[in-house]
Amino acid sequence: MGEFKRIGILTSGGDCAGLNAVIRAVVCRAVGTYNWEVLGIRQATQGLMSSPPEFMLLDLDKMDRLLTAGGTVLGTTNKGDPFAFPMPDGTVLDRSEDIIAGYRELGLDAIIGIGGDGSLAILRRLALQGNLNLVAIPKTIDNDLGSTEHSIGFDTAVNIATEALDRLHFTAASHSRVMILEVMGRDAGHIAISAGIAGGADVILIPEIPYTIANVCKKIYDRQNQGKNYSLIVVSEAVRTEEGEPVMSTNRLGQCRLGGIGQYLSDKICDCSGAETRVTVLGHTQRGGTPSPLDRLTASAFGVAAVDLIADGKYDQMVSWQNRQVVSVPIADAIAQYRAVDLNGTLVKTARGLGICLGD
Ligand code: F6P
Repeated sequence: MGEFKRIGILTSGGDCAGLNAVIRAVVCRAVGTYNWEVLGIRQATQGLMSSPPEFMLLDLDKMDRLLTAGGTVLGTTNKGDPFAFPMPDGTVLDRSEDIIAGYRELGLDAIIGIGGDGSLAILRRLALQGNLNLVAIPKTIDNDLGSTEHSIGFDTAVNIATEALDRLHFTAASHSRVMILEVMGRDAGHIAISAGIAGGADVILIPEIPYTIANVCKKIYDRQNQGKNYSLIVVSEAVRTEEGEPVMSTNRLGQCRLGGIGQYLSDKICDCSGAETRVTVLGHTQRGGTPSPLDRLTASAFGVAAVDLIADGKYDQMVSWQNRQVVSVPIADAIAQYRAVDLNGTLVKTARGLGICLGD
């Protein structure tokens, strides 16, 4: 059975559906199979930064109902780079050594970090600096990590966006409107193109493909000429204005976030075609709630595989889904390979083949 280990697990970056399912799988494997101890670190690396470190002992009894629960019981954050950590007095400090000290204080033999590219880059830097035994699990609704076919959270986000399109379809048809759905995804259009195809959109706009309003309006006219008085448009949040300007806003805390391209398109399409338009911004509904069966499955397989990597002493690795199985890849490779929507890939070809307008 091998020697006893105490391992940590943390969730980092934006939450998404399936994080709790990963935690459950890790505990089932580590405690259930190997008889190890699992400490859940609270609030990403901030739990290790605190003195004393903030954690919860994760035993099998605490895993009931976690498979289907949204969010993360450990808490997470997508702000506060520990290498340039904003302190309450306004100064910025390198807190990396505090995190490494937290890992040592808890007596961890290894740590599992669940995150997207940004979080995994930070965790790897910490691991190299402190000689920490790190294993990574990919999660991001944006699905932009190049070295894995699935990242936890993406499938649920696509399901939610598809369901929204299914619902908008009826109102679009009933009111003869152009309905615009703005979805997340950061700089990649994976959610938009996947949900757009699955949800029968007439126009899909993604950051990877430049568009013109004239092309979008032509699609609307063509449909009208075929007796179809409504259209469904899905747009990724990072699509720019026709002039190439990003559409974003800054909140009271000074945080700059993508959003607003749906309203921009609505006004432009109304001006150009005279169509009555409405906008739905799906926002964080894409991240919360019950994970889809595929996300539960991926989370379960990744959790078990990550613990097995630790049992085998294989560190600095990320579990990855490739060719119908879970493999592991060096974290360095995983974070180096960004994946945008492939312009010659199956989804773009499928959309074009179905007659969906991609704006170009
Ligand atoms: O990276 C995940 C993501 O949901 C993006 O799709 C989106 O742009 C961003 O996070 C939103 O971040 P926040 O939760 O900070 O508003």
